[in-house]
Parts: sequence; C-alpha cells; structure tokens
Amino acid sequence: MTQSTTAFSNVQVGVDYYPEHWDETMWEQDAALMQTTGVKLIRVAEFAWSRLEPEDGRFDFAWLDRAVDTFHRYGIQVVIGTPTNTPPRWLTSKHPDILPIQHNGDIVQPGVRGHRCFNSPSLLQYSIRIVSELAKHYSNHPAVCGWQIDNEYWLLECHCPSCNTRFREWAEARYASLKELNDAWGTVVWSGEYSDWSEITTPLGGTANQNPSFLLEYHRFQSDSALRFQRKQMEVIRQYAPGHFITHNFHSYPQKMDIHLIGAELDFASFDYYPNTSPDKTATGPYSGALSLDLTRGIKRRNFWIMEQLSGPPGCWFPNWRTPYPGFIRAFSWQTIARGADTVVHFRWRSAIQGAEQFWHGLIDHSNVPGRRFKEFADLCREVNSVAAQLEGTTLRNDAAILYSSDQLVALGNQKPVDGFDYYENIKAWHRALTKLGIGVDVIHTKEALEGYKILLVPHLYLLDEHLAGRIEQFAASGGTVILTHRSGVKDHLSVCHMQPLPALLSNCAGVVVSEYDPIGNDVHHIRTSDQKQFTSTQWNDLLEPVTAEAIAWYADDFYEGVPAVTRNRYGNGTVYYVGTQPDDAYMERLIQEAAEGADLPYYENLPEGVQLSVRQNETKAYLFVLNLSRQEAVIDLGYSYVSLLTAGKQPSTLVLPPYGVEILNISTPS
Ligand code: GLA
Ligand code: ZN
Repeated sequence: MTQSTTAFSNVQVGVDYYPEHWDETMWEQDAALMQTTGVKLIRVAEFAWSRLEPEDGRFDFAWLDRAVDTFHRYGIQVVIGTPTNTPPRWLTSKHPDILPIQHNGDIVQPGVRGHRCFNSPSLLQYSIRIVSELAKHYSNHPAVCGWQIDNEYWLLECHCPSCNTRFREWAEARYASLKELNDAWGTVVWSGEYSDWSEITTPLGGTANQNPSFLLEYHRFQSDSALRFQRKQMEVIRQYAPGHFITHNFHSYPQKMDIHLIGAELDFASFDYYPNTSPDKTATGPYSGALSLDLTRGIKRRNFWIMEQLSGPPGCWFPNWRTPYPGFIRAFSWQTIARGADTVVHFRWRSAIQGAEQFWHGLIDHSNVPGRRFKEFADLCREVNSVAAQLEGTTLRNDAAILYSSDQLVALGNQKPVDGFDYYENIKAWHRALTKLGIGVDVIHTKEALEGYKILLVPHLYLLDEHLAGRIEQFAASGGTVILTHRSGVKDHLSVCHMQPLPALLSNCAGVVVSEYDPIGNDVHHIRTSDQKQFTSTQWNDLLEPVTAEAIAWYADDFYEGVPAVTRNRYGNGTVYYVGTQPDDAYMERLIQEAAEGADLPYYENLPEGVQLSVRQNETKAYLFVLNLSRQEAVIDLGYSYVSLLTAGKQPSTLVLPPYGVEILNISTPS
C-alpha cells in the first residue's frame, strides 16, 4: 500500500468533478484553473454507470481516460467513485430485481438515485463486473490514488424477495433453532410465534409497533447487507488495484446504518459535510458539525477525509439555503482539518446546468465566472497548501470520549421513549457542552477500548450486556470518571428488558437505583443543586434512590420534589455520575466542569459562543486550532502567546478573531 499511504494522509484540498456533465473542451480549462488555484485532487464517476457501460457488457472508459489524463497533466490526483448507486436504465429494465421494494409494496423506481437493493443478485453481479473492469483499467494510472465505494449509503428497509430470503438465511445462521429465535425475540406476545422458517419475513406492513427484538435484528441484517455489498466491491479492487486506498463517504448523521460496521473494513472513513448556512443556525450548527466530524474520526479512530464540503447555497432536496456568509467556506473547511480531516474535497467545482441538483451550488456558478465564493476557496487552497507539510501526520489525542452506537440509535428510534427524546439530539447536547468548555472529545463505538481516557460520557446505554457493563465498571474502578444518564441498562442486546432495578447492570458502579420514573416529555421541570441554583429539565425523570452514591441535584417539582435527580458515586479509584433527567445546557456544563476538575482535565470557562478549540499533534509537534465559527468578533484569552502557523507572526495571549476567523498556533513549546 505504498502509494496509497502517502496519498491519504496528505493535507490538501480537492473538488468533486463530473466530466460527463461538461463539454470536453472545458476539462482542460477547468484543470488549468484548478492547478493555479492549488487544488490537488478530484473525485469522479460515482454516478456515471450509464456512460461507463452504455449497454450490457460494453464498457467505455475512453472518455474517463481522456478526463483523467487531462487532470494528470495538471498534476491533479483522482479518486474514482464506483457507480453502483445509480444502475442505468437498461440494467434495471433487464433486471428489475435490482429495485428496492418498500413495505407497502411500492417499488423504488429509477429516476433519482439509490434505486438499488444491496441484496439483489443482479446488482451484485453487475456491480462486481463493472468495478473489476474499472479497477483493472485504472490500477496503474499514475493519477488514480483510490476509490470511493458507492455513494452515501443509508439503511434500506427493503422488502424485495431477495431481502426476504436472505433475512431468513441470516436468522437461521444466527439461531440454533426456531425455538431459540422465538424465545429470544419473545414472539409469544400477540401470538407471533414462528412455526416454520419460511414464515420469517421482513417487517411487511412497516416498522411501527412490531416486535422490537425482531426490528432490531432486521436493521442489523440490513447493515450486514450493505457491508457484504461493499466487501464484494472491495475484494475486487484489492485484487486488481492493491496499491489504492478504499473509502466511503458517510453523510447526514445520525444514520440507522451501522457506520462503524461498514467503516471498519475501509482504509479510512470519509464524510460529506454541509454545515447549515442559515443565520438561525449560527448558535447550534457549528456544534452539531463538530459532533459529525468527531463521530467520523471515531469510525476508524484515525484521521479521515471530507469527500464533499459545502461550497455554495444547497438546494434540490429542499428549497435553497442561504449562501455561505463571507469566511464561512474557509472557516468550516478548517474546522474539518482541526478535527482530523486530511483531504477536504469541495462539492462541487461548478453548479450543474442540468439535472435535479442544478441549484445545489458549487464553487463556480452556472455563468462559469468565478465569483466571491471561488475567491474565498482559492485563498483557502493557498493557506492549506502553505501549512500542509507541518500538519501532515498530526492527529487529535483527546482525554474525553462519548460512547455511541447505531444499535442504541435504532432501538431507541424504533420505540421512542417519550416526546422530545432523541438519542442523537441528546448526544449533541452533551457534546456541545464539552465543546463549549474547550474539552476535546472522541466519539467512539461502545465496543472500542476505553483505556487512556479520563472522562467517559455515556448517554442512554439503553441496550446493555454484561460485557459492556463490566468494561465501564473497570474503567471507573481504575480511576476514570463516568457520566451515565437515564434510559441506561434497560434492555439486553436483543431488546429484551432486564428484570432488575435500573440502571440494572450499572447500578453497582453508579451506587444508585431508580425507584420509579416519570416520562415528562416536553413538560418543563426543574432540578435544584445544593447551592440552591435551579436548572430546567425535560424528557424523563428517574426518581433516584442512592445506595452508596450521594445526591448532588434534586427534583424541584411535582410529587417527587426533593427526590434525588443526579448522583455521584466513588467506585474503586474513580467516580460515576448518574444523571436521571435531561438537564439544560447550563447544568450539563456545570456538571462537566465538576467532573473535569475531579479528573484533572483542563477546560476553558469563558470561551465565546461559536469558538471551538482543538489540537492536532504528534510526538514532536502540536498545533492549537482556534476557530471563530460565529458572525461576531471573538476575544479569546488563552493565557499564553504563541507563534501563528498561518502568518508566522507571534500572537498576543488574548486573541481577537474576526467573524469566521481562524488561527492555528504552534503550541509545541510555549513561547
Ligand atoms: C450528497 C451527494 C452528492 C450531492 C450532494 C448534494 O452529499 O453525495 O452527490 O447530491 O449530496 O445534494
Ligand atoms: Zn431488497
């Protein structure tokens, strides 16, 4: 993997380019402008199946060769997307089994995209064939460095005959007998017991109110199906183009698709990042973006790529958003690098003049006259290229982690606990509280090793088995600080409720049990702390009964006024907090500050709204990114003065950043 290793750790800027959308005479002009702008890479072809294989078995790569050669002449590298997201019409007409079937029997018709079922034998066969041809053809092209498999998977809830057959086989392989499956899923309820394997189907009729164990398993099956589809493509690419990297562009979290399962086999994860440009989102957007980036870094626990980065006002799937404010394109690109992106590929070079996405704007407008956004992009390219060498090989090393899994998301989504409860939104709130305090956080899967962290935030560990509970206990016992929340320890990994007082397997380390709960939903309640401060809370109230823990906040309303709402327990050498309700941001920040002090973790108390900090480092160097992702000037008192990587000048210890201002400080040694 010599060639790919260098290519994928480069800190550089690229663009998404669709040679098939433009007259060939434009390729050269575009390549020349890219070169002078400092663009290093393009991604191509991920939807171009009808041009790459215009009829069954007739491949035409000549046009792509001419495009790739043109860009190569201008020193630009190429990532090829496998075109399997958009099977051409001749293929779906010939093999309609490719088209997914919805629960009501409707067929997902061609005309948009994503009209392909991962379990269709024809899709698999034709995909492997075209991907093999492409991989053989481009394995030695000096410009081609890697592959993106398909485009933006999402969890298909498909009910086609192949999905039904394969789901049955999947279940048969997982359970020793039908009796074991019936017992495990609790199909006895409502006389849902299967008496023959052939009775097992996908959730026909839709997912509402069906057996939660069955639904969870069906969703796992669909993630496995995407994994298998990806693996088949990867096998042929590895066979024919072993020097190339392989990635996939994840998007729009949260995804029911198990991104960690799918991501594990890739060389690195990529993400498509479209931060919201609306002025109403300036307070929350940059934080939710930060979570997306941290989650993407967590997929492989390594640096990642942005395969599509916002370049203009988005529109098509919804009416147009606002145009990116001056500085937005640059600042949000730096945000991705600050959180571990290496290559950042902008979507797209020029807005399409045809097709449904005409108004999902690129860097250059339909007029083909580069304007303000392009100028800002060109400045970004110059800046990134000027510091790329220093940043290469650096990554984030955080002391705090949030545990996340799509199993929890799916289980809590299939059976929403109460109005207002949203697993991912609640994670956003905790992540935002950490980010506002300048505490770097990794967002990792529940199965990941926990060693090395000081603080572990574990929102809603709804599905919990002994192994995971044991690892969390062990983390706390050996000195870690854990923050647990309501709706934890409720069920096992098959969505069957534990017959124990909550938080069940975590009660011992939390030193507390839940005597009763009140799902308050959108009602606004309050909690009170010992210094008589009051905070609001919503969604859920666990009435807590401390065993060894001490209460640190109490309910202030209703028949349970005065009952503990939040507790703290010493466990071994560590501390376990249990938060029985969904507190407001102010309380979250207060609790995290307390936990950080106990864990000896530094934080910043007065970071202005929208300012985000992160550190990229390796053994010898460390760079602090200070980003002002707001429309107001920000004054940040760092307490030290450092040399700027961007200007090489020494910055005062109090930084003043303009709206969307970016600074990168060399903190390798305090100066
Ligand atoms: C996604 C896709 C792109 C494009 C953009 C804009 O992220 O991967 O092909 O459609 O959205 O909508
Ligand atoms: Zn299907």
